[in-house]
Amino acid sequence: MKRLGVGFVGTGWVVNTYHAKAWRGVRHADITAICDLEEERAKTTAALCRELGVGNPKVYRDVSEMAKDPKVDAIWITVPNYARIPVVKAITEEVTQGRAELVGLVCEKPLGRNVKEARLMLEMVEKASMLHGYLENQVFMPSLVKGKEILWKRGANIAGRPYLARCSEEHGGPHTAWFWDASRQGGGALNDMLCHSIEAARFLLTAPNEEKEALIPRAVSAEIASLKWSSRPKYVERLREMTKGEIDYSKKPAEDMGRASIVYETKEGLLVLSELSTSWSFVPGERVYLELLGPEYYMQIDSLNPEMKIFFSREIKGPSGEDLVEKQAAEQGFMPVLPDETSTYGYTEEHRHMVESFLNGKMPRETWKDGVFVVELLMACYMAAEKNKKLSFPPARLEDFVPKVAQGTWNPKDIIKATFE
Ligand SMILES: NC(=O)c1ccc[n+]([C@@H]2O[C@H](COP(=O)([O-])OP(=O)(O)OC[C@H]3O[C@@H](n4cnc5c(N)ncnc54)[C@H](O)[C@@H]3O)[C@@H](O)[C@H]2O)c1
Repeated sequence: MKRLGVGFVGTGWVVNTYHAKAWRGVRHADITAICDLEEERAKTTAALCRELGVGNPKVYRDVSEMAKDPKVDAIWITVPNYARIPVVKAITEEVTQGRAELVGLVCEKPLGRNVKEARLMLEMVEKASMLHGYLENQVFMPSLVKGKEILWKRGANIAGRPYLARCSEEHGGPHTAWFWDASRQGGGALNDMLCHSIEAARFLLTAPNEEKEALIPRAVSAEIASLKWSSRPKYVERLREMTKGEIDYSKKPAEDMGRASIVYETKEGLLVLSELSTSWSFVPGERVYLELLGPEYYMQIDSLNPEMKIFFSREIKGPSGEDLVEKQAAEQGFMPVLPDETSTYGYTEEHRHMVESFLNGKMPRETWKDGVFVVELLMACYMAAEKNKKLSFPPARLEDFVPKVAQGTWNPKDIIKATFE
């Protein structure tokens, strides 16, 4: 196979904002098919691909049909979290029945809404004997990759391995209603975004020549809160308006803030820590903030401190947009601008790596096994937050655990209840 033909299933915000554009930096692969339940959306993305010069995709509404297209060698799964299982079931069925020839599948984060779903995803792809890649963009961020390389080579080699990674991703809240609905999404901000921080921290704390398994999670503590979207009536109402009445956080809230700490044991018996936080209540715009601390060295990445900042005085009043940074909330004042977010956040490199791995018949460096690992830790975080206790990892009954948030039974006031018991 000289070029990889890739079909996308689910062509919403992330494909149109990032993946199609990132494809301009991907070699030896074309986007040859687009599938979406809503044909018009698929057609719009297909037109965008032609405009960007990244393929001339055929449009499908049925993923089983797309899987059989001889021009499709691999499928990128970018449907919402609640739609993953039926999509993967349909594709793997075509492959195991010999009706489709696919080298591999790639899936967006998080791999499942809970451990049972994530493990089922892995089981299905393994049964179909396909390669699998997990889209965790942060571990492909050029700054993170370069920072890790330098710190381990110049710092850890002399002073010893790093002991603390602090990772966070925050913004003002998702763009589509289903993200806010914990039963469809799997949770709130913690499930949606702490998945990035867990993997970014593990990446930083693992030596370049070590297997990921060299870091064993031993204990997890976490807390979730609703600081803005369910506790302030004005924002409950705003969310209802934004989602055209679909989401009512006065009845079924989800957390808009989460933090966790994971203690890992290294193979030398050292204990190292990842300190993670996330929120949907951070107003300035998307921010990825990462730190790595070692005995004689330190690294910091702040995506909202880029090389370019611009200023508009109060005389400049224009339409609102997201042309400076994802989820920006202002158009006036002194503001950071990210000129190429697809590269900064790691999307270009992640797709390039997935394509190269599949063309070489190899597993990518992020697989669905990593996706399962991340979901296990996310669920342990919810469990720890619900119990308000530090938990040994893995805690009992993780396989069947569904967070209260996803069941619609979470009370944000639980955050104080356990403290006073
Ligand atoms: N890595 C990141 O930073 C990042 C950012 C945003 C979203 N994501 C992930 O990407 C996924 C998609 O998010 P999004 O923001 O693009 O969502 P979205 O709601 O904007 O788009 C989802 C699309 O999937 C389509 N769809 C739903 N069910 C389908 C099915 N069964 N078959 C075909 N199409 C179907 C919908 O019609 C819609 O066009 C989510 O899992 C999300 O967690 C990742």
